[in-house]
Amino acid sequence: MALLPILRYPDPRLHARARPVESVDDAIRKLVADMAETMYEAPGIGLAATQVNVDKRVVVIDVSEDRSGLMVFVNPEIVEKSGEQTCEEGCLSVPGVYEKVTRAQFVRVRALNGRGEPFELEAEGLLAVCIQHEIDHLDGKVFVEYLSQLKLNRIKSKLAKKSRITA
Ligand code: NI
Repeated sequence: MALLPILRYPDPRLHARARPVESVDDAIRKLVADMAETMYEAPGIGLAATQVNVDKRVVVIDVSEDRSGLMVFVNPEIVEKSGEQTCEEGCLSVPGVYEKVTRAQFVRVRALNGRGEPFELEAEGLLAVCIQHEIDHLDGKVFVEYLSQLKLNRIKSKLAKKSRITA
C-alpha cells in the first residue's frame, strides 16, 4: 500500500469528470487500498479518486468512530434522494475550511463494492452527506462551489496565502 498525494483546491484537475470503472481488477483493488490508507492517514472520512488525480469513479468512506467501517463505492450513482439537511463540511482538498452546505437528508446509492459486486445502500445524516460530497468530486465539483462568490473568493485568497507561507 502507498500514501497518495492529495490535490489541493483550486487545482484544475479537481474539476475533471472521472470515467467509469470497466472492471474491478487488481489495479482497482490496489487503488482502493491506497485510497483507504491515504484517507485514514490524512485523517478524513471520505476520499474520491479525483482527489488523488486518478480518473476513475471510485470512492472510499468511513464514518465510523473507530475507523473500522470502510465502505467502497465503484461507479456510485444516486438513484433516489429526498429531504434536506445543512451540515458543516470540510474536505481534504480544501484544508482548514469548514462551511455549511445544504444537501439531501436521504439518499439511495447504487454501486459496485471492492469485489466488483453490485449493491444498493440507503443512507441518511452524515453518511448521506459524505456520499453526496464524494460523488460531487467524481463529477468535478468541490463543496466550496456551493458557497457564494464572495465567500469563495475569501477562501481562495486564504488558501493562496497559506501556500505562500508553506512554499
Ligand atoms: Ni472532499
